[in-house]
Amino acid sequence: MKNSLTYILFAGLTTLMLSCNEYNRRPGRVYAPDMFYSRAVDYYNGTQKIEKEKGFYNKMPVPGTVAQNQFLPDNMTEEDTTYAKAYKNPFVFTEADVDNGKRLYNIQCGICHGTNLDGNGPLYASGKFAAMPANLKGEKYLAMTEGTIYHAIKFGKNAMGSYASQLDTKERWQVIAYIKQIQSENGGSPFTMISKPETTETAAIQVANDSTKSEPK
Ligand code: HEC
Repeated sequence: MKNSLTYILFAGLTTLMLSCNEYNRRPGRVYAPDMFYSRAVDYYNGTQKIEKEKGFYNKMPVPGTVAQNQFLPDNMTEEDTTYAKAYKNPFVFTEADVDNGKRLYNIQCGICHGTNLDGNGPLYASGKFAAMPANLKGEKYLAMTEGTIYHAIKFGKNAMGSYASQLDTKERWQVIAYIKQIQSENGGSPFTMISKPETTETAAIQVANDSTKSEPK
C-alpha cells in the first residue's frame, strides 16, 4: 500500500514536470509576460510608437530646437574653413565680457599660449609639451579672423585639442574678444568687438592716459 502510494506520487510529479516542460517549449508563450518584457517607456525616446498609442509621454523636441537660455548653434563644421573664416561674433559685448574672456583665457589657454599670448606658456616653456603653441602676437595670428580663432577653439588644431566642452559659445567669443583686444594693442587691427558706449568710454580713458603721458616732467 505504502509502495503504490509512493509510485502514484512519483508518476504524478513526473507528469507534472514533463507537462510543464512541454508548456515551456511551446513558442510564443511566456509565463507572466509583463515581468519578462518591461512596458516602461523611456523619456525622449522617439515619437512614432507614442503617437500610435496616443499616450502622454515626453516627446523628442522638434529638430533644431534650442533650449531656453541657450545660444543659437553656430552651424560651423570642421571642414568648412571658408565659412569659419567669415564667421563673426553674434553677441553684443561690454568690457565685462572682455574681462571674463581674460579670466577664461588664463584658465584654458595661458598654460600653452602664455599669459602674454606670445606662445611661450609654462607647459611649452618647461619642455613638457613638444608642439609650439601659436604666438598670438605674431604677424600671422594678428591677421587671423575672429571666426578662424573660433574654429580653432571649437575643433582644435593639430596638437591643440578642442576646447568646445570647456567653453560654451559665449565664453569662446569672450576669449576671442580678449585675444583681439590684446592683438589690437600689439599691431593688430583696431578692436571692434564691444558695443559703442563702452568703446567711447575706452577711448576717453585712452585720451586721459595719453594726456598724462605727454605732460612734462
Ligand atoms: C595644450 C596646449 C594648448 C592649449 C591649452 C591651447 N592651445 Fe591653442 N594651440 C596649441 C598649439 C600647439 C597650436 C599650434 C597648432 C599648429 O598650428 O600646428 C595652437 C594653435 C592655436 C591657434 C592657431 C590656429 C590656427 O588655425 O593656426 C589659435 C587661434 C589658438 N591655438 C587658440 C587657443 C585658445 C583660444 C586656447 C584656449 C581656449 C588655446 N589655444 C589653448 C596649443 C594649445
